[in-house]
Amino acid sequence: MAQPEPVLSTRKLEGKVAIVTGGANGIGEATARVFADHGARAVVIVDIQDEKGRGVAESIGSQRCSYVHCDVSDEEQVKGMIDWTIQKYGQLDIMFSNAGIGSKSPQTILDLDVSQFDRLFEVNVRGMAICVKHAARVMVERHIKGTIVCTASAIANNCRGSTNVTDYTMSKHAILGLVRSASQQLGTYGIRINSVLPAAVPSSRRTNEEIQKTFGPFTRLKDISLTVKHIADTVLFLASNDSAFVTGHDLVVDGGLISVPNLTIGEK
Ligand SMILES: NC(=O)c1ccc[n+]([C@@H]2O[C@H](COP(=O)([O-])OP(=O)(O)OC[C@H]3O[C@@H](n4cnc5c(N)ncnc54)[C@H](O)[C@@H]3O)[C@@H](O)[C@H]2O)c1
Repeated sequence: MAQPEPVLSTRKLEGKVAIVTGGANGIGEATARVFADHGARAVVIVDIQDEKGRGVAESIGSQRCSYVHCDVSDEEQVKGMIDWTIQKYGQLDIMFSNAGIGSKSPQTILDLDVSQFDRLFEVNVRGMAICVKHAARVMVERHIKGTIVCTASAIANNCRGSTNVTDYTMSKHAILGLVRSASQQLGTYGIRINSVLPAAVPSSRRTNEEIQKTFGPFTRLKDISLTVKHIADTVLFLASNDSAFVTGHDLVVDGGLISVPNLTIGEK
């Protein structure tokens, strides 16, 4: 049986076509750039922030990168975006399903706002499942042994939940169920699916100082702070042939984070 070539080069995605949802910012943007740096033939940035998304695509280069407006919680839009990718580039090798939102306001189970819960689940869970479904659909139809990576969170690993972001915590646990189930079903077609579980990373919402205050005392790896590039490099590993026999796996990128007692995010 033909085995995938081990890739030792610095161009691990030569000739590949990749979609990155939530690619206009943060982890998605960093990953789109790493994919392009590693020789991807095309990177499709998917987001709802059009100006930012177009800006990222332009800075990577219009020859290799496109921006598509698509709300991942809308199945018709996702189907259209994936069919557009196939039409334009003739292929889909990698789906990085990463778009996600945080809790709008902190809440315990006792004061759960179900409208807020529904919207968060629409994006973080339904959106993730829709993206996996339609990426896998075209990979199966076209006999592509593709790879899918979903962004969950370290909150679904060993934090034992949080004291106040019930909806977000639940949504990220759901991604593990999605990836584990889909890996059982898609392995038959040679399609791999894994999740990446980042710890808190500095963003427009949280500074490194705030993150260090909450997580620093519980993070075993010292003298280094998590960056979006660390996460992007992990996604690259899962998306490339370097992880050719890895599927259904939850890969934490947390510097040895141990259980965080009384994890409270934001102010109540
Ligand atoms: N930042 C962290 O500390 C952290 C930690 C663990 C996991 N995560 C997860 O990582 C992923 C990326 O987060 P980030 O930190 O880069 O956040 P971010 O806000 O910087 O980027 C998320 C992107 O997703 C886009 N998006 C939101 N809703 C969308 C929708 N309905 N359709 C299409 N695009 C949509 C946003 O416009 C944004 O560009 C999310 O799933 C998040 O839950 C983040």
